[in-house]
Amino acid sequence: MRIVGTGRVHPSKVVTNHMLEQFLDTSDEWIKERTGITERRLISSERLEDMASEASRLAIEDAGLSASDIDYIICSNVINEYITPGLSCIIQGNIGAKCACVDVNAACSGFIYALDMADDRIKSGKAKNILVVAAEEPTRMVDWSDRATCVLFGDGAGAVVVSEGDGFMASRLTTQSKTDCLYYQRKLEPTPYITKEEHFSALYMNGRDVFKTAVLSSSRDIKTLLDSCGLQPSDIKYYVLHQANMRIVEAIAHYLKLDMSFFPHNVERCGNTSSASIPLLLDELNREGKLQRGDKLLFSAFGAGFTTGACIIEWTK
Ligand code: COA
Repeated sequence: MRIVGTGRVHPSKVVTNHMLEQFLDTSDEWIKERTGITERRLISSERLEDMASEASRLAIEDAGLSASDIDYIICSNVINEYITPGLSCIIQGNIGAKCACVDVNAACSGFIYALDMADDRIKSGKAKNILVVAAEEPTRMVDWSDRATCVLFGDGAGAVVVSEGDGFMASRLTTQSKTDCLYYQRKLEPTPYITKEEHFSALYMNGRDVFKTAVLSSSRDIKTLLDSCGLQPSDIKYYVLHQANMRIVEAIAHYLKLDMSFFPHNVERCGNTSSASIPLLLDELNREGKLQRGDKLLFSAFGAGFTTGACIIEWTK
C-alpha cells in the first residue's frame, strides 16, 4: 500500500485563548505554557459530514482519481450527529462513490487503525484504491464550563487515498483496556424496562495520567518500529505525531534525542482534533511541498481505550 493523495478541511471559526478568557477562569499564558495551543478551529455552522466529504474529494483529486475508482471507504470517527448510519456511508453518497463503507472508532489512534485495515485489504487483493478519512468534532464531547478539557480540542477532517504499492513499511497497534483516565459516556434513549442506574458524563480526563501514558506508549511504539525496520531515529524525515499537546511532542523528541525540526506541528493552530490530527498535518506537509519521493515518515498516535497506533511509511507520490 502507498499513499497517493491527501486532503483536509478545517472549520471556519477560529477561537483564540483570549476568547476563552471571556467565559472561563483561564489565561492565554496558562494554555500556551501547558499545551502550546494558541487557537483552535471549531465547528459552528458546518456539518462534519460535509467537511469529511470535501476533504475526501480533495484527496481523490490529489491522487488523480475519481470517486468511481474508490473501492472501499474507511472513516475514523468518535462522534458526529449520527449514531447510525456510519459517517462513511454519508460520505459515499456525497462524493458519488459506490463501494462498501465502514466506520472505525479507536479514539485518537483511529486513523492509524484505519490505515492498517486498508493495508490488509489491499494486500489481500480485495481493493485497489481505498479512501481513509478521519473526521472528528471532539468539541461536542466536552463540558464547556470545564477549563481542564474544553481548551484542548478542535474539529477537522483529513483524508488520504491509498493504492497498491510498497509504501507501508511497518505498523504497530496496541490496546490496553483502561477506561478510568479518559472517557465520554452518552445517555441512551429510555425504555419502559430500564431498571439499572445510568450515567452521562461529558468528556472526563485525568490529564496527568494521560500525559504520562501517552509519552511512554508513543516512545515505545516508535522505538519498536524503528528497530523492526533497522532504522535510526534520524533516518525518518518527519515524525507526524498525534497533535494532542506540544509538551508531549517535545517529550518524545527529547526521548529520541532529535531536534524539533523532525517534528512538524499544528496543535498551536488547531488544538487536539482527535484522529483527524495526523491526516490534517500530513496534508499540510504535502501541499506545502515539504515531502519528497523516498522520504520516510513515522506516524504515531494514542487515545482513549487506551489505544496506540504507529506506522512507518515511505512517501512515494
Ligand atoms: N486554565 C487555568 N488553569 C487550569 C486549566 C486552565 N485551562 N486547566 C486546569 N487548570 C488548573 C487545575 O485546576 C490545577 O489547579 P490546582 O493546582 O489549583 O488544582 C492546575 O491547573 C494544574 O492542573 P493539572 O491538570 O495538574 O495540569 P497539567 O500540568 O497536568 O496540565 C493538561 C493539564 C491537560 C494540559 C495536561 O495534563 C495534558 O496535556 N495531559 C494530556 C492530555 C491529552 O493529551 N489528552 C488527549 C489524549 S488523546
